[in-house]
Amino acid sequence: MQLLNATNIAHDFEYPLFTDINLSLNAHESMAIIGASGSGKSTLLHILSSLLAPKSGTVELFDKNIYTLKKDLLVDMRRDDIGMVFQSHYLFKGFSGYENLEVAAKLSNTSIEDSVLEDLGIKDVIHQKVTELSGGQQQRVSIARVLTKKPRLIFADEPTGNLDSETALDVMKLFRQYLQTHEAAMVLVTHEKSLAMECDHVYKLVDMKLEKVK
Ligand SMILES: Nc1ncnc2c1ncn2[C@@H]1O[C@H](COP(=O)(O)OP(=O)(O)OP(=O)(O)O)[C@@H](O)[C@H]1O
Ligand SMILES: [Mg+2]
Repeated sequence: MQLLNATNIAHDFEYPLFTDINLSLNAHESMAIIGASGSGKSTLLHILSSLLAPKSGTVELFDKNIYTLKKDLLVDMRRDDIGMVFQSHYLFKGFSGYENLEVAAKLSNTSIEDSVLEDLGIKDVIHQKVTELSGGQQQRVSIARVLTKKPRLIFADEPTGNLDSETALDVMKLFRQYLQTHEAAMVLVTHEKSLAMECDHVYKLVDMKLEKVK
């Protein structure tokens, strides 16, 4: 089943950023986008994940054109089917890690899985206030929050940027397990090629185009 289909995407700010981008993704697949700082990776991720309309081209998620879709349907899709891990994570700072997960579980009508907390190594700290967690622990809470939603598409921008390489690989393994066991797919932006190569498909943004690496 195809979950994402992007056709002829082009975007620019003050200058052209990229053109002719075509991507698709099926359930159980992962895709990484690599490229130099400033090449437009985060911008492309925002376009694919419904946050920024491209200058031209179409993005279909779950067979729906997200930039012509009615606003309330898009809000439903974002809440129920799309999970995002941002470069800077947006946890509720006054809450504990666990309370952050409870909000996600409540909104999506799902439950928090102990095994996810265990796999991410945050079971022992999850009841601490977010402000009392290290940057890497906060990042892992934000990953747990996304997985708690049970999204059909995960968009992750440098999700392991604050983690040591061993923990980063553990997190990738957890994402892979999630994709294997759910009708879900993931788009990952990273500057670390070794992490990118863990994905089924790898593309590089270079000279305003997307080159296939794997
Ligand atoms: N909202 C915006 N308005 C104007 N220019 C922007 C905006 N967002 C990004 N840019 C510009 O677009 C270019 C690409 O930015 P983007 O954040 O997509 O890069 P990136 O590949 O994710 O970089 P990094 O690896 O450093 O995160 C940059 O030159 C940036 O300054
Ligand atoms: Mg970026």
